[in-house]
Amino acid sequence: MENNITIPKHIGIIMDGNGRWAKKRFLPRNMGHKKGAEVFQDITRYCNELGLEAVTFYAFSTENWKRPQEEVEGIMKLFKEYLIKAFDYEKENNKIVFLGDKSAFSGELLDLMLEIEEKTADRTGMILNIALNYGSRNEIINACKEISQLVKEGKMSIDDINEESFSNHLYTKNQPDPDFILRPSGEKRLSNFLLWQSAYAEFVYMDVLWPDFTRKNLDEAILEFNKRNRRFGGV
Ligand code: FPP
Repeated sequence: MENNITIPKHIGIIMDGNGRWAKKRFLPRNMGHKKGAEVFQDITRYCNELGLEAVTFYAFSTENWKRPQEEVEGIMKLFKEYLIKAFDYEKENNKIVFLGDKSAFSGELLDLMLEIEEKTADRTGMILNIALNYGSRNEIINACKEISQLVKEGKMSIDDINEESFSNHLYTKNQPDPDFILRPSGEKRLSNFLLWQSAYAEFVYMDVLWPDFTRKNLDEAILEFNKRNRRFGGV
């Protein structure tokens, strides 16, 4: 990466195109997810090298449960395998946070998620957010419920509800908002990902499928981010 480049603080990545990658090769869809998980690992490491404060990967949405059972089971197995790898990579000192509703998970995977969050909570390196069973509308509704409860109990007044206090009830509390959202695979949708947090983010869509995504693709995306003139509503 060139010297005079601004590196985004927080990149949100929608990992998309695993199924199409597999289909093109006449392989089962889960082979696409497997290759996608390897790319997840490599791009996480690259984000560490670039010095990001945070990166968020959209790994599994609240809608993804509708997929065939075999595919969902395959993805859950990959989560276990690659979460352990991400956690074991001590050198990178990543604080790992799971964004989403954990109540859908149980057994080994849930135990692993809780253990990883607890054991990495005090790490000081890049925040690695993994959105699992995540839906942004659901996240916003949860925040509303939590705040309403506090108001009802007299612990918060209606006048205290503002953008900052609201953000503190989202899964991303105490984190910088993503300044950059990246979606490979040619689709140009946000798909219920970080709706509140991406209010001022730049969006870059790329034609490459996630399993083919490389460090060079991320460099290209960051160059595109640098070309945008970010004014935050000013002139
Ligand atoms: C979307 O592609 C991808 C997923 C729903 C699963 C993503 C999961 C991984 C890459 C595993 C990552 C592992 C960890 C630990 C985060 P798609 O299947 O919708 O692709 P398509 O649109 O081409 O069908």
